[in-house]
Amino acid sequence: MTITKRNNKSSMHDIEKFRGQLLNWYDENRRILPWRALPGQVADPYHVWLSEIMLQQTTVGAVIPYFLKFTKTWPDVHALAAESSDVLMAAWAGLGYYARARNLHACAKIVANDLDGVFPNNQAELKKLPGIGDYTSAAITAIAFNKPATVVDGNVDRVMARTFAVEEPMPKSKPQLKAHAAKFFDGYTDRPGDLAQAFMDLGAGTCIAKTPRCALCPVSDHCVGLKLDIAATLPRKAKKKPKPQRHGDIYWITNDNAEALLHRRPDKGLLGGTLALPTTEWIEKGQGIIPLDLLKDQNSTDLGEKIHHSFTQIDLELPLKTVTTTSLIPSKDHQWRSISGINAADFPTVFKKAVKLFLK
Ligand code: ADE
Repeated sequence: MTITKRNNKSSMHDIEKFRGQLLNWYDENRRILPWRALPGQVADPYHVWLSEIMLQQTTVGAVIPYFLKFTKTWPDVHALAAESSDVLMAAWAGLGYYARARNLHACAKIVANDLDGVFPNNQAELKKLPGIGDYTSAAITAIAFNKPATVVDGNVDRVMARTFAVEEPMPKSKPQLKAHAAKFFDGYTDRPGDLAQAFMDLGAGTCIAKTPRCALCPVSDHCVGLKLDIAATLPRKAKKKPKPQRHGDIYWITNDNAEALLHRRPDKGLLGGTLALPTTEWIEKGQGIIPLDLLKDQNSTDLGEKIHHSFTQIDLELPLKTVTTTSLIPSKDHQWRSISGINAADFPTVFKKAVKLFLK
């Protein structure tokens, strides 16, 4: 691209040339992914939607087994909508960001029951559905319906930051990066879905975060970052604040019937709606832990082990405690479950770690 750092301009001709080179490369090098239509085939909007929700903040490698399990168990949006929320949350366990699973279910119900099972084919209508924001609506519009939309994920951000040598740190640079991406996507009706996926594949395998493989890049002749020898340092990132530390106690409460007490967490908040073990509130270090109401008059034993888990928002430390009881009466969000029927895989990761230790 005949752009320089000072006159960060690109002509229509440059953009078309870049797109052509990228798409030729994609035709030869595209990844085979289970949600992706093969060349000449039409994408299934249900597959595209499901994969895009799963891929929000999660890597392709982590998503593939979940995507395969979901599409095998629920082959279409009607089947997914008809499932119980408990079964769906258990199937999502381990993928993280559990609000996505709740929104997925709510969205499936609307599409199945109110829209005859047909996903909208434009961003404005898609954005009215739970769990679908700017990025996801653009990705579905382009990939499932091959309609123009500016698709900007982390990969596209990185490719834009380098191509146009954007030195302003993220996240402040996001609008600028999106404006650059729009030059490629706006009004491009030919292969918008392939273009979006080509940028994603370029970012995932070639224009990678730490050490870009510029020698293999099909569009390196357009890259101002490479010309200035700063590509590997882009996109710049604002310094992150250290995460707050939280701590609490996590309980394995058992009774005489070889049962353990499980907790369904409230829908709102961290790990909302997931299957869990009883815990105290997660509070700042230094504050005194408020005992669990449920455990009034019960003696607990410290197991001498701790779970450490890092969420996006907090780092968590949870010492493990056990309680053996004959007198505890569960509240409505707690239920006794036969220990032999408890499966660590049904829990989100933080509790999975604890259940494995308790079952040892
Ligand atoms: N990341 C987000 N969406 C993706 C997709 N459709 N293909 C590959 N990586 C992605």
